[in-house]
Amino acid sequence: MCGIIGYVGERKCINILLDGLKALEYRGYDSSGIAYNENNEIKIIKSTGKVQELENKIDKNLPSYIGIGHTRWATHGIPNEINAHPHHQGKTTLVHNGIIENYVELKKELSSYYNFKSETDTEVAAALIDYLAKNNSKLEALKKAMTKIIGSYALAIIFDDEPETIYAIRKDSPMIIAQKNNDSFVASDIAAILKYTNEYYILNEGEIAKLTKEKLTIFNNNLQEITKDLKIYQGNINDIMKNGFDHFMLKEIYDETSVYQNIINTYFPNYDIKELINNFPNLSKYEKIKIIGCGSAYHAGMVAKSTLEDFANIETTVEMASEYRYKKIFPNSKELVILISQSGETADTLEALRIAKKNNIDTLAIVNVNSSSIARESDMVIYCLAGCEIAVATTKAYLAQVLILSLITLTISYNKKIITNEEANKYLFNIKNLISDTKKILDNKEEYQKLASKIYKNNCMFFIGREIDYAICMEASLKMKEISYIHSEAYPAGELKHGTISLIEENTPVIGIITQEEIAQKTISNLKETKARGSKIIIITTQNIYDKYLNDHFYEEIIIIKDINILLQSLVTVTPLQLLSYYVAKLRGEDIDKPRNLAKSVTVE
Ligand code: AGP
Repeated sequence: MCGIIGYVGERKCINILLDGLKALEYRGYDSSGIAYNENNEIKIIKSTGKVQELENKIDKNLPSYIGIGHTRWATHGIPNEINAHPHHQGKTTLVHNGIIENYVELKKELSSYYNFKSETDTEVAAALIDYLAKNNSKLEALKKAMTKIIGSYALAIIFDDEPETIYAIRKDSPMIIAQKNNDSFVASDIAAILKYTNEYYILNEGEIAKLTKEKLTIFNNNLQEITKDLKIYQGNINDIMKNGFDHFMLKEIYDETSVYQNIINTYFPNYDIKELINNFPNLSKYEKIKIIGCGSAYHAGMVAKSTLEDFANIETTVEMASEYRYKKIFPNSKELVILISQSGETADTLEALRIAKKNNIDTLAIVNVNSSSIARESDMVIYCLAGCEIAVATTKAYLAQVLILSLITLTISYNKKIITNEEANKYLFNIKNLISDTKKILDNKEEYQKLASKIYKNNCMFFIGREIDYAICMEASLKMKEISYIHSEAYPAGELKHGTISLIEENTPVIGIITQEEIAQKTISNLKETKARGSKIIIITTQNIYDKYLNDHFYEEIIIIKDINILLQSLVTVTPLQLLSYYVAKLRGEDIDKPRNLAKSVTVE
């Protein structure tokens, strides 16, 4: 996902723009650039590769006090300097996050007035706005542009003939604006400006922001000036610093205990179910739940399917957002759609939300980023309180999603009188123990480093399990492949023998996840089937299952975790698997926080 930063104020802008771009690197990118005004001339510098390479091209002390910057995650056109942003046409220079779906038609219309050098949709937006600005005020031109552009965009724009002003418009792609003392900022997210301010405004669709050194003005779709609620980011600069860890991903895994504590402090500080039901919506009227998400968010939903059905007795289905949006919808007033998204901006999940709402289905969002699009457009929202997550591979936010879903399961079960007040409070109190159990895992990193050293050279591995353990396998497998680039597959343990077992070779790691006693022996048998074909067996299981079923040591390695309960067992099972994937990727020397081809939030289809 691209990143945008813009600044106009009393300070020299180059360092502010570069700092902002570095803070946005986590979103994933392959080129970057800035445009700045020097002696009333707009200049553009771009570079492929890391922001550091852009920085090496620029005099950071040059006397410029207004500029826009961009990190590009290529959608149209290969990652090269010509396609990198900012793009300039006529008197218009801009940066863009999103996809303009009708850019080919627009390009055709404009090609008799403009020459296009790049393959991008963004350059077409620059030409369109420039063309409209010839016979309209800047505000009118931007208003007209928003009626002509189809697709998603967050645009920060500077005009040659108004070089002290930045304009901004957006649709679907997020954008914030801020003003502190004599500094004005526009950015894709708070991380880019947290060094300067934690106060910001959300720019909504159809609005136009006009930023000068002195003033930040926002106009509605009728070009009337409007006021907006000031947002305060509930975190601090530490969220975007590694604080001594080698990678954000490792820091965020170690943040998991404080995330659990945040959730307790916010939703049930006294471990009383009555506190929780006051802070959560009452969902007991629904007869069905459909959980929708992408990637790890989808995997969190798969974990929750087991707990909602087994513990709260409510039929639950889970769908990938990218599939749901093209399926036939069966509107049902007794169904609740839960949308899960760390960023709250994932295009497929946002579209799935809009489809559910169009079909009059109630929607609940479980998101991490406050005031994100999915949070704002859902009927109900519960925040994950995981803090800013920088690493592309989600860890603390995924576990926060799983915990929030377990808490939802608990409230439904309590409201449906499946469990008593005392039983509910006991589960809540177990979450306090979850913190100490997780801390023990985090204090024992050597175990995962050692295990990683045994499998990091493999180029193929399998995670197998049943029911909730299969859901955990899905997340463990994604973590592994996402950052180590090892081809890894999660497979239902019982399904492997129906074809895929043909891929098992001598020393292929097969990681068995076994946390449910009632199906433990089935999965053990499946593991032995792979062992007979030469696999290297690694098991992650509970003490109870180990003691009862695993004393014939047919496996190479074993991770034993504490027995907790159905609502929390997945949490203490996943943290070790996150650490394992981290140390495998580290041994392979990969770019763990910014894996190739990936973005932190995929705001394009
Ligand atoms: C997870 O590590 C990946 N970064 C990815 O699968 C992610 O979970 C997915 O893109 C959904 O993102 P979201 O939670 O921000 O919607």
